[in-house]
Order: sequence, then structure tokens, then C-alpha cells
Amino acid sequence: MCGIVGYTGRRQAAPILLEGLKKLEYRGYDSAGVAVLDGNALQVMKRAGSVENLSAAQAFAGSVGIGHTRWATHGAPTKENAHPHIFGRIALVHNGIIENMKALKEECLARGEKFVSETDSEVIAHLLEGYYEGDILAALKKTAARLTGSFALAVLCTEEPRKIALARRSSPLVVGRAEDGIYLASDIPAIAAKGMTIYALEEKEFALLGEGEAHFYGEDGREIEKKPLEYSIEEDVPEKRGFRHFMRKEMSEIPQSIANTQQIMHAYPQISALREVLCHAEYLHIVACGTAYHSGLCAKVAFEALARIPVEVTVASEYRYRDPIIRKNTLIVAVSQSGETADTLAAAELAKRSGATLVAVTNVRYSSLARLADFVLFTAAGREIAVAATKSFNAQLVLLYALAEELARAKGRGACGAELLSLPALAEEALSASEGVRAWTPHFLSAKSVFFLGRGADYCAALEGSLKLKEISYLPSEGYPAGELKHGTLALIEEGTPVVAILTSSRLAEKTMNAVHETYARGAKVFLVTSLPEYCKRREIVSSVLLPDCGEIFSPALSVIPLQALAYYVSVARGCDPDKPRNLAKSVTVE
Ligand code: AGP
Repeated sequence: MCGIVGYTGRRQAAPILLEGLKKLEYRGYDSAGVAVLDGNALQVMKRAGSVENLSAAQAFAGSVGIGHTRWATHGAPTKENAHPHIFGRIALVHNGIIENMKALKEECLARGEKFVSETDSEVIAHLLEGYYEGDILAALKKTAARLTGSFALAVLCTEEPRKIALARRSSPLVVGRAEDGIYLASDIPAIAAKGMTIYALEEKEFALLGEGEAHFYGEDGREIEKKPLEYSIEEDVPEKRGFRHFMRKEMSEIPQSIANTQQIMHAYPQISALREVLCHAEYLHIVACGTAYHSGLCAKVAFEALARIPVEVTVASEYRYRDPIIRKNTLIVAVSQSGETADTLAAAELAKRSGATLVAVTNVRYSSLARLADFVLFTAAGREIAVAATKSFNAQLVLLYALAEELARAKGRGACGAELLSLPALAEEALSASEGVRAWTPHFLSAKSVFFLGRGADYCAALEGSLKLKEISYLPSEGYPAGELKHGTLALIEEGTPVVAILTSSRLAEKTMNAVHETYARGAKVFLVTSLPEYCKRREIVSSVLLPDCGEIFSPALSVIPLQALAYYVSVARGCDPDKPRNLAKSVTVE
């Protein structure tokens, strides 16, 4: 949710800012802007739309600057609402939400100050200007104390033209010290380069960058020593490698992501300590958002079947405000690709504060979630650029399944490692089979609504299939428990309504087929994703994808693949951009 970047050093700032912003566009692409200081002269460019529209800013002279790519919260994605926001001597970029902006704005308006945007962020520039008395860090500390909500802030002041002041509350911010200057960004890959030392700002910390130095300060204002992160530049530089979209390329990496994740889990260095915790775990809470929440739902099936302990899976934004019952020996598993999702972090913090042991399942090694957790289990899916999560979901499942097996062993129950180990090869087969869904797209292109049906683990996969379709093709769709349809939703089925049934459990197949009959009888066009060949030729079925069998419990790791492919092909055929769906961002750092 919004990406920020900054630089102060010996090089020209503008090219560094623009390059950093390009790498941060996954965080928002509604509008973008940069501000560069050349001595005391401030040059600013803001544009609606993507960072590409800022290319003329390359010409800005000056070696100190800040930049921003926006995902709109307050105010439309216009040039006026784009960051940086300028007031008096101040220019700032902000990632987060200021919840008390109304009261603060009224205070500024009462002083006769004028606002040019509808954003919550502009008020911060006004406060800073008001508090500025020759020391930008002091002004930032006073300003931060007035703000309610979340923020990562980078601030320039024309009177201290070599410096950038930073503050963090909830939203991520990292600083990189290199031989040629000091860099800052919302995430590491936006600035990382060989030989750079990287530091992460923690909750309520401040920093002052300039003259080749980075100074960090705690909440109490005292300077603190920071330990650098042991970060090595990622080898998998995100490129499309011949694919038209990142999403399709990332899907092709599912088998490798699964295999790499399994390897990491097998070599997990803290396994004995984790086993000790698992031995005593009596309750399991899984918190996550979106796709990661769906992986939690799929994993619940495995945890309960294998380890027989009660599992609660809750959307993190609900958990954090629900006063959940956290008993002794509750294990909380927070699942997040980015490790920066604000609601997931807040839910995890809440559970940790209440005495639960926190296990993080994340794809980003130095994410805030990873730094918070007692145990960090990495999904080795590699960088995921497309906003729609694909390979990270499959990797999350595999990791959670492995954890379910560990828990089962800790509880003295048998395990089924062999089935899990064959998943990379089976995922390869599922990928090839999934190409079959391309032929389904004409039936979906102008559908009023689409239904994904299943029972048990198939229902969890249905939810994810539906989210993918909504997210990137903008078609209304619902994932539904097959048996629940007749209690209301069946009323929505019309002649030609596309229904995708997921059928991987022979135990439940005939039951799900009842729902298929009910929709078929009312004119639905039914498409099937199954590992049971005997259902492919049923007369109700327009077309089917036959998947390899990996057992009922683990089936979503494969059955989701044709659903991801369906969403992708429908999105492309409808002329949407599957990598950058409207209104969304990859990393949701606001609540
Ligand atoms: C997935 O396709 C979505 N873009 C979204 O639901 C995502 O899974 C959710 O925002 C959670 O993100 P996280 O895994 O980084 O926490």
C-alpha cells in the first residue's frame, strides 16, 4: 500500500528514485511523484497513473530526494492527491493512514492554512511546518506524537537540504547505507545493491539520514545502535522470462516453489525447539488475509485430520478486534506472503501479547512479521510480483501441510510424508492439464456471476478460485459449499451461468454432484476440476480438467492451479491487466 523511496548522497537522486519507484509499484500504481532538492531549491513532479509518467523528472538536478507510488486511501488517484505533499519548507511522502486527520486539519484551517489535496497525508506537512524551528528531526518527533494511525514518513526540509528525516509506525521502512550515499525504501529490493548495509526501522523509531550517515532514534528520542540485517541480494531478479505477464510466469514456477519450500522445511534449523512447542500445543489459531487466509482454511483440513487438534482460522482484520479466546498452549500461525500485511501483523501481535507462541509463515525473510515471530517458516516461492498470489499460495499450503505433519508426529499420530514429497512432480502435471481451461474462457467472458462449488478441502480451493477470478477479471463470483447452495444461492443460477465444480474426494464426490445436478437442471454450464476420471464424461459437464490424485487432504495444492489459470485467461481475454488489477496492491500495509 504505497511505496516510498529516498536518497541522499553523492549521486544524482532522480534516477535512483525513479528506479526504486518502479520496483515498488506492486505496492500501488494509482499515481506517483518525486521531490528533489538542489541546494535549497525544491523540484517536484507528480502524475496520476504509473511511475512511467514521471520520466521527465530524470532531468532534475540534485542529490537528495524522495519519491512515492500511491494506492489511494483518502482522495481520488489524481495529480493533486499524489505525493510528495509540500507545505512551506517541507516535502514529505507517506505510507499509511492518519486516522485523526479531520481534527488536525481543522486546527490548521483555523490558522488560515490552505490545503490543495483531499489526502490525509497533507496535514502532516502542515504540522511539520508548524513545529519546524531549525531541526527537522525534532519537528518530526513532535508531529508523530500528534498522529493517530499508521505511517512510514520520509521528510525533506529546504532549510536542511542534505537531510532526510524518517518515522515509522506500523508501516515498513528500511534504510540502506552504501559507499555512495544513504537510501531508504518501503522494502529492501527497491534499493538493495551489492555491498549495501541494510537496517530496518522498528515500531515507533525515527532516523536522520545525511552526509553519508544514518542515525537511528528510539521512541524516547535517544539515539540507538542498530544491527544490520543479514541480507544478500536476491538471485531471482524478477523478469518475465518470455511470459506475457508475471502472473503466468509465477504460475509456471509453482512446482519449483513447492520443492524449494519442502527443502527449507526439511532443513529447518529450529526444528527441535519447534517440536517442543508443538508437543504442548492444544489449540491452533491461524490468522491471515485474502489468499493467505484461504491457505489457512485449506490447512485446517490437514491439521484437524492429521493432528486432531482444534483449529480456528480467522481473517486477521476480524481477529484483531474480536477479543479472541487465547488459552494456555495456543499456537498462533500468521500466514502472509509479504509479511507486511497490517491486519495480520496486528492479529499476530495481539496473540503474542496474550501469551501465544507465534509461528510466521512468510515469503519475505526480513519482513515485519518475520521479525516479530518466535518461529519463522519461509515459503521459498521467490519474489512474487503479480498482485494476484499464485505460487506463494501453493508454497504456503505445502509448508502448512508439513507443519500439520510435524504436529501430528508430536501428538504421536502417523504421518504421510510420501504424498507430500510427490507434490512438485504432480504440480507439474497439474500445470500442463490446466492449459485445458483456456478453452473455457468464452463461457465466462460476459457472465453476470460465476460460482465455484466444492465440499471439504474442495470448498477451500473454490474460495481461492473465486477470489482469483474477482481480483483480476472483475467478474462477480462466489465460492460456495456445494451442500449450501439450495439454501438461497441457487436462486442466482440462470440459463448459461458458469459453475465450476471441484471434485477431488471420492468420499464426497456424489454429494457434490447433487449440487451440480441442481445447477445443471436450472441451465448452468458446469465445468469440472477433478482427480476422479469417472466424472469427466458425465452429461452435465461441459468440459473438465483431469488432475493427478494427491489425496483428499492435500488436494487444494493441485486443484487451485486450473482455477488460477482460468482467472488468468479470463482476465486477459477481457482486456484486463492480471499483474496490476484495478484498485489493488500487493502489499496491504494499511488496515
Ligand atoms: C491475493 O491474490 C491477494 N492479492 C490478496 O488477497 C493477498 O493474499 C492478501 O492481501 C494477503 O497478503 P499477504 O499474504 O502478503 O499478507
